[in-house]
Amino acid sequence: MSVKIFFWALILRLGLSASDNFTYNGFKGVNLSLDGLAGITSDGLLMLTNATTHKTGHAFFPSPLRFKKSQADNVLSFSTTFVFAIIPEDQTVGSGGFTFVISPSKDLTHASSGYLLGIVNETNNGNASNHILAVEFDTWKSPEAEDINSNHVGIDINGFISYNSKPAGFTSDDDGKFQNLTLLSGEPMQVWIEYNGTNMQFNVTLAPLLKPKPKIALLSSTVNLSSIILDRMYVGFSGSVGTLYLYHYILGWGFSIDGDAPELNLSSLPSLPQNLTSLEKKRKTLLLWLSLTLLLVLLNVACATLMVVRKKMFSELHDDWELEFESNRFPYEQLYKATRGFKGKYLLGIGGFGRVYRGLLPASKVEVAVKRVSHESKQGVREFVAEIVSLGKLRHRNLVQLLGYCRRKGELLLVYEYMPNGSLDKFLFSEAKQSLAWSLRFRIIKGVASGLQYLHDCWDQVVIHRDIKASNVLLDGDMNGRLGDFGLARLYDHGAVTRTTNVVGTPGFLAPELARTCKVTTSSDVFAFGAFILEVACGRRALEPNKQESEQVLVDWVFANWKMGTIYETKDPRLGKDYVLEELDLVLKLGLLCSHPSPSARPSMRQITRFLNGDVPLPEMLPYQFHASGSFLFKNE
Ligand SMILES: *[C@@H]1O[C@H](CO)[C@@H](O)[C@H](O)[C@H]1NC(C)=O
Ligand SMILES: *[C@@H]1O[C@H](CO)[C@@H](O)[C@H](O)[C@H]1NC(C)=O
Ligand SMILES: *[C@@H]1O[C@H](CO)[C@@H](O)[C@H](O)[C@H]1NC(C)=O
Ligand SMILES: *[C@@H]1O[C@H](CO)[C@@H](O)[C@H](O)[C@H]1NC(C)=O
Ligand SMILES: *[C@@H]1O[C@H](CO)[C@@H](O)[C@H](O)[C@H]1NC(C)=O
Ligand SMILES: *[C@@H]1O[C@H](CO)[C@@H](O)[C@H](O)[C@H]1NC(C)=O
Ligand SMILES: *[C@@H]1O[C@H](CO)[C@@H](O)[C@H](O)[C@H]1NC(C)=O
Ligand SMILES: *[C@@H]1O[C@H](CO)[C@@H](O)[C@H](O)[C@H]1NC(C)=O
Ligand SMILES: *[C@@H]1O[C@H](CO)[C@@H](O)[C@H](O)[C@H]1NC(C)=O
Ligand SMILES: *[C@@H]1O[C@H](CO)[C@@H](O)[C@H](O)[C@H]1NC(C)=O
Ligand SMILES: *[C@@H]1O[C@H](CO)[C@@H](O)[C@H](O)[C@H]1NC(C)=O
Repeated sequence: MSVKIFFWALILRLGLSASDNFTYNGFKGVNLSLDGLAGITSDGLLMLTNATTHKTGHAFFPSPLRFKKSQADNVLSFSTTFVFAIIPEDQTVGSGGFTFVISPSKDLTHASSGYLLGIVNETNNGNASNHILAVEFDTWKSPEAEDINSNHVGIDINGFISYNSKPAGFTSDDDGKFQNLTLLSGEPMQVWIEYNGTNMQFNVTLAPLLKPKPKIALLSSTVNLSSIILDRMYVGFSGSVGTLYLYHYILGWGFSIDGDAPELNLSSLPSLPQNLTSLEKKRKTLLLWLSLTLLLVLLNVACATLMVVRKKMFSELHDDWELEFESNRFPYEQLYKATRGFKGKYLLGIGGFGRVYRGLLPASKVEVAVKRVSHESKQGVREFVAEIVSLGKLRHRNLVQLLGYCRRKGELLLVYEYMPNGSLDKFLFSEAKQSLAWSLRFRIIKGVASGLQYLHDCWDQVVIHRDIKASNVLLDGDMNGRLGDFGLARLYDHGAVTRTTNVVGTPGFLAPELARTCKVTTSSDVFAFGAFILEVACGRRALEPNKQESEQVLVDWVFANWKMGTIYETKDPRLGKDYVLEELDLVLKLGLLCSHPSPSARPSMRQITRFLNGDVPLPEMLPYQFHASGSFLFKNE
């Protein structure tokens, strides 16, 4: 009997407590009304939203609670506490939030997601007939809701626009300082919401889990809830997700009307979702590793392909005989890089033997000119390379230094010092460029003479240039004349290189005996040198087919003027009065002397340098001496 009474008392008590107050330390097996994304996990966590965007979820205590003693009465005091955690997809950006909500209906499926927080939609927002009271935990600064920031707590009445809100945080009981809390941190936090039906004070307090309830509430408002809360209302939660998913979890929940404040047993709360943050992290790390591995594989494939392409692209020819020249060799790749892949922008010019590119050697940062010479036969190349290398040993301040070479299939690359001022002909013959001062011209003539004399005399082997002309004279940074391209013509004889023009030497510079003997000598170089210095003094090309016949060949024209006593009229008109008469006289006459039809009558380069330096005066010359072929005599001798 007594057992029976106790039993009934127990039933009665359970029933009563079910309607007045309840406490859930975890939700395993708890009867809640769920909709949308809401669910209870196997661990006993109430999950309001899962990894789905633009959706809501609701969880309500299944039966309505009595908030008023009678319909007309004031709202009774009530209080609730719960522990929550928000685990975001991205810890820096929120999207939506969740609310504790008191509603006349547990069907809020028509409410919208995102900033509408799953409590109202655009149509019924703010409508007094909603009878909705909510406390929002919002991670999104919504302009529509006039939110204060993207991490706030607010009291909402009938809509999503907060009646009162504050940034999430708490006032420490220890020092009275406010401390921020980050809703998106994934850390569990406890909330206390209390309403005093007597003085209508509505308080919301927030604190990190395991901290006692702070004495000072985060939000404290005086609100007459009589017209908002009906006598029977449902209590629960709404979760809302915007564009990024958030997991909203409730770990435990207590509620009571007109009674003692509920208390949770924090040590028996379910642990956070299998450590979702770390799970997510693990997933992301795995994904990262996978993509990294994939990337590495792809990179390897790309590298291998690139290496094959590169090998082909930068392939060179190496023969045993070249071993001794190894120190004079440049890797093709280096030259390729130096000239940025032989880009058109770096093309300096197209000479008789091929294109010349400007380059910057990547390692040494030395500026170079790279000449690409195409060649056919293997035989000639060997001799040529040997010669080129030995020519590379020639050092004279009026010669363009050859730095080395590179050999590829069908092609030779010659690396020279870079001459910043380009070739002399551009200064002499182009209208645009400023006229060269006479002193500069005279210095260039002397320099070239000195360089050529070095080639003829100062080496164990006579080097004949064969192609002296203004366009083969380059100007260094100090405007010194430097002979370039020496030795290349020889290569043509070996049959090793292909020339773009089929003649060795240049018309206007070819000594007349070459037509008969085809044998180049130092005298034929002197002949060309004569034509060259006339070019410099007269500022016109050795051969100008467009001029009237008597003026076409420079040498003939100067000669004719000399005979008429008007030799100075052949000087470059651009010089104006800027010249030294003695020097001009010397250059013009020396030019004629060098161009003597008879090779034996021409002076040697050694003599020429002496004349130019003023060491020896130019012999007196008479025009008739030029006609007596092969018998020109110096008057002094
Ligand atoms: C989220 O919950 C809904 C409803 O329970 C379910 O249909 C959906 O598959 C869940 N999505 C994920 C990603 O868990
Ligand atoms: C849950 O509660 C509702 C309302 O009290 C009730 O109708 C339903 O049967 C309950 N469900 C379970 C599984 O207890
Ligand atoms: C807004 O919500 C109300 C109440 O739940 C519902 O009647 C209405 O159809 C909803 N409107 C829209 C556009 O969903
Ligand atoms: C508020 O909602 C009620 C019932 O849904 C409706 O009749 C009324 O027109 C709404 N008021 C406003 C201002 O939208
Ligand atoms: C708390 O957050 C606010 C902005 O929400 C910021 O101005 C303030 O400096 C923060 N305080 C601390 C102690 O971090
Ligand atoms: C509610 O307010 C009244 C009047 O200020 C006060 O006497 C009472 O203690 C308060 N109740 C609670 C639970 O704070
Ligand atoms: C509400 O908060 C205020 C200020 O923190 C406090 O004075 C008051 O006692 C609190 N009321 C309740 C019902 O907790
Ligand atoms: C609260 O509001 C109700 C209805 O609006 C009113 O009857 C009551 O007097 C109000 N209470 C106080 C204390 O103002
Ligand atoms: C819940 O209600 C019962 C009966 O009304 C009461 O004895 C108990 O103390 C209440 N518990 C809390 C936590 O308020
Ligand atoms: C709280 O939960 C723990 C673990 O479930 C239990 O050992 C302890 O007795 C509980 N405390 C109270 C006051 O119920
Ligand atoms: C989550 O994992 C971290 C480290 O992975 C651990 O320190 C933390 O205690 C775990 N939290 C929970 C609730 O399991």
